[in-house]
Amino acid sequence: MGPLQIKELLKTSPEEQSVTLKGWVRTKRESKNAIFIALNDGSTIHNIQAVAEPGQFSPELLLQVTTGSCLKITGNLVASLGSGQSVEVKVQDIQVYGAADPELYPLQPKRHSLEFLREIAHLRPRTNTFSAILRIRHTLAFAIHKYFNDNGFFYLHTPIITASDAEGAGEMFRVTTLDLKNLPKTDEGDINFKEDFFGREANLTVSGQLEGELGAMALSKIYTFGPTFRAENSNTTRHLAEFWMIEPEMAFFELEDNMDLAEDFVKTVIRYALENCKDDLDFLQNRLAEEEKSKPQNERSLPLLEKLSFVVDNPFERLTYTEAIEILLKSKPHKEKKFQYPVGWGIDLSSEHERYLVEKHFKKPVILTSYPREIKSFYMKLDDDGKTVRAMDVLFPGIGEIIGGSQREDSYEKLLERVNEVGIDPETIWWYLETRKFGTAPHSGFGLGFERLVLFVTGMGNIRDVIPFPRYPRSAEF
Ligand code: 4AD
Repeated sequence: MGPLQIKELLKTSPEEQSVTLKGWVRTKRESKNAIFIALNDGSTIHNIQAVAEPGQFSPELLLQVTTGSCLKITGNLVASLGSGQSVEVKVQDIQVYGAADPELYPLQPKRHSLEFLREIAHLRPRTNTFSAILRIRHTLAFAIHKYFNDNGFFYLHTPIITASDAEGAGEMFRVTTLDLKNLPKTDEGDINFKEDFFGREANLTVSGQLEGELGAMALSKIYTFGPTFRAENSNTTRHLAEFWMIEPEMAFFELEDNMDLAEDFVKTVIRYALENCKDDLDFLQNRLAEEEKSKPQNERSLPLLEKLSFVVDNPFERLTYTEAIEILLKSKPHKEKKFQYPVGWGIDLSSEHERYLVEKHFKKPVILTSYPREIKSFYMKLDDDGKTVRAMDVLFPGIGEIIGGSQREDSYEKLLERVNEVGIDPETIWWYLETRKFGTAPHSGFGLGFERLVLFVTGMGNIRDVIPFPRYPRSAEF
């Protein structure tokens, strides 16, 4: 369907057959005997080279063939004489779909900083780096759906607009149609949300989990894969205000099963990317090596493909939160007071602690379990000692937490107690509580932050560079 894409043409055996190319000019180079146009249509990191003869086209037309312009080229596919490609196109005709004035077009064939590219997010997909990231992102999304489909999970679409705060963290974006300049008031003087669109307060979802659990209580194994919103004012390289989360939820899974699934799942999708995104990963690996050239040897990261293969081929380390705290207490940075935040049983691990465990101590991905109940969400199943909950966080090198999950509290009484303890009005989640009243079952699930996975696989340093149009504090331009 449609014209043959450059990815296919590059694999076609050259028999002087007539072909049509459509794409954007990456570079144009003129020599005495020929004009070389490198054309790219985004189907692959590789350009196809089109070769025209000087004098074949009017100077006016050639002036329009500049970096960024969009062309239709017809010509013959021939074996390439130059090194670097096996085929090229001997140009017969050029049609300019759209010129790109070199005085104005911001993307020139040179290295642009990632910060600059963020300011032109409408054009950055046309760079090698971003097109590679976007193709890998697509491949990972596809691998995720494939993994769950292959393993008997059903894709459940959970709502984006919700009235509940699934994580109980209160970092939500409000959804309203009320006139902000003329808010309806109750007799007590509060805003009267009964007059709002949904007749109640509504927000963008922070997680599809609660509805996901309803699905698991009927279909046994479900997953969600949708946009997720957090209004936390986190200006870090790991946080977005709008990100995509994958949340499988499984009836009859205990914490062990949950960990096994999480590990197999991430390994399988990374392996899929390794097998299907070779060219793009090679490109990003070289880019990274180039970027780190000026660093001393011991500060450079593992080559990207090596890092990914290592994660796929080795078992993750599994230990409890309590054991992790003991390791941190014995660690050099703790003894030398190098950690910014204090260590002790009960603390919420900060990213410096997580990174010490993963990058310095174990040097591989880690799954931490059994966290103190006070620092985890209300829905997690209490351990028998009543002090810890059956939580599991998967920590990755360079990323920190990539997955958060748990076995869920399946006892109605215990769940209600926790709901009251953390101050959630049970009335607002009566439907969630009813799953424990009617046919409750042991069940577990987790959430994988999609962009954190893409960040890891692409080796990029900032989460804002692995989503096409990032949303973060004071940024929603595109
Ligand atoms: O640990 P979190 O908050 O867990 C949940 O939301 C659970 N309901 C998941 C579940 O059990 N079904 O978030 C899960 C993951 C994190 O590990 C992280 O990878 C990602 O979501 N995440 C973010 N990614 C980008 N930007 C943010 N602001 C993120 N917050 C969480």
